[in-house]
Amino acid sequence: EGASGLDIAKLLATTGKVTLDTGFVNTASCRSAVTYIDGGEGILRYRGYPIEQLAERSTFLEVSYLLIYGELPTQSELDEFTTRVQRHTMLHEDLKRFFDGFPRDAHPMPVLSSAVSALSTFYQDALDPFDPEQVEISTVRLLAKLPTIAAYAYKKSIGQPFLYPDNSLSLVENFLRMTFGLPAEPYDADPLTVKALDQLFILHADHEQNCSTSTVRLVGSSHANLFASVSAGINALFGPLHGGANQAVLEMLETIRDSDETVESFMRKVKDKEPGVRLMGFGHRVYKNYDPRAAIIKTTADEMLAKTEGNELLEIAKRLEEIALGDDYFVERKLYPNVDFYTGLLYQAMGFPTKMFTVLFAIGRLPGWIAQWREMINDPATKIGRPRQVYTGATERDYTEIGAR
Ligand code: ACO
Repeated sequence: EGASGLDIAKLLATTGKVTLDTGFVNTASCRSAVTYIDGGEGILRYRGYPIEQLAERSTFLEVSYLLIYGELPTQSELDEFTTRVQRHTMLHEDLKRFFDGFPRDAHPMPVLSSAVSALSTFYQDALDPFDPEQVEISTVRLLAKLPTIAAYAYKKSIGQPFLYPDNSLSLVENFLRMTFGLPAEPYDADPLTVKALDQLFILHADHEQNCSTSTVRLVGSSHANLFASVSAGINALFGPLHGGANQAVLEMLETIRDSDETVESFMRKVKDKEPGVRLMGFGHRVYKNYDPRAAIIKTTADEMLAKTEGNELLEIAKRLEEIALGDDYFVERKLYPNVDFYTGLLYQAMGFPTKMFTVLFAIGRLPGWIAQWREMINDPATKIGRPRQVYTGATERDYTEIGAR
């Protein structure tokens, strides 16, 4: 009675018993005050604020501040934070040379994680996880430089020159200009695209202890610095079961459009569980209700795609959703659209190639990774992450000389 979960875990460890929870389906790894999810009700809140209100009324930098510092900023706090981030958007010229070493067709995700990892070599005087000032400057450097690194990874892949950041622009406008602009040519980002991308970044900004965030915390629990921890998180996000589903959704919609397949015949294959056929962008480990992020993105997709050729794919997506929501197979298993169901359509309409989709996810998720890392470092209860196992190998046996095997 009165014992904490940790006390009970320690007590059990003395008995030699361990809990097996493959995939951590019901194991809390920490206490956290950053993000609240109720998967049954479809609720998502950052620091107590409903995602719907933040997506409609806030901005990505303001949400970043909220996640990292715990409160919404005052106007002067936000102005100061914005200026600080803007001052650090440039990359060291030596870091820019890194991009030359990668193959032209390199996927931008490993380029992103490599460059973030390399930041540890450029800022060696600010890597102490327990020095608040050093953590603060690393936080600002990461928020400022990740969009620049992401844009350069894209420019490298299409063989175009890098553009210096223009710090008179907002974070999203600057990113779009560095991605799609050309030297000596004016670039005015489409206001609807700026607003939609800012909103998508807000919607991806944190999602409690998902795979990449748990990775960031686990690496950081060994007192590795913020750059090293976030670089590991980017690699975790690269996996198709985590960050890559938005690309898979788009490919699924294009396959239906470009083949003899009808929406109905595709859904029959899904329900018959034909090997390799799933309704991508549907289902979630935590949400057993409509993912609140998907609901917001669907509305934005309606607005943005109304007059574009992406509309045909949107119609297929909507028809798939309509069938699924009325079908016993999906209803019984509580399968609803997740955040990835409509995002790929929007990214495509904005002009991004599919390889960049997960990079966009990483830019959005960065403030969440930073907030969770800082919470972990400052929590006196944090211990180095070190799961146990249930051993299934051979029992003791004697070594035999190689000639006798
Ligand atoms: N299409 C068809 N059937 C599905 C789907 C789907 N998308 N998702 C789950 N099911 C079925 C399973 O076949 C299983 O059926 P059964 O009980 O008859 O065997 C049941 O629903 C439970 O599915 P699990 O795979 O056990 O659920 P889990 O929680 O392990 O997986 C996951 C969740 C990976 C998201 C899964 O729903 C899926 O593969 N979805 C498609 C991929 C996707 O959209 N991923 C993005 C997730 S969001 C994100 O990471 C940002």
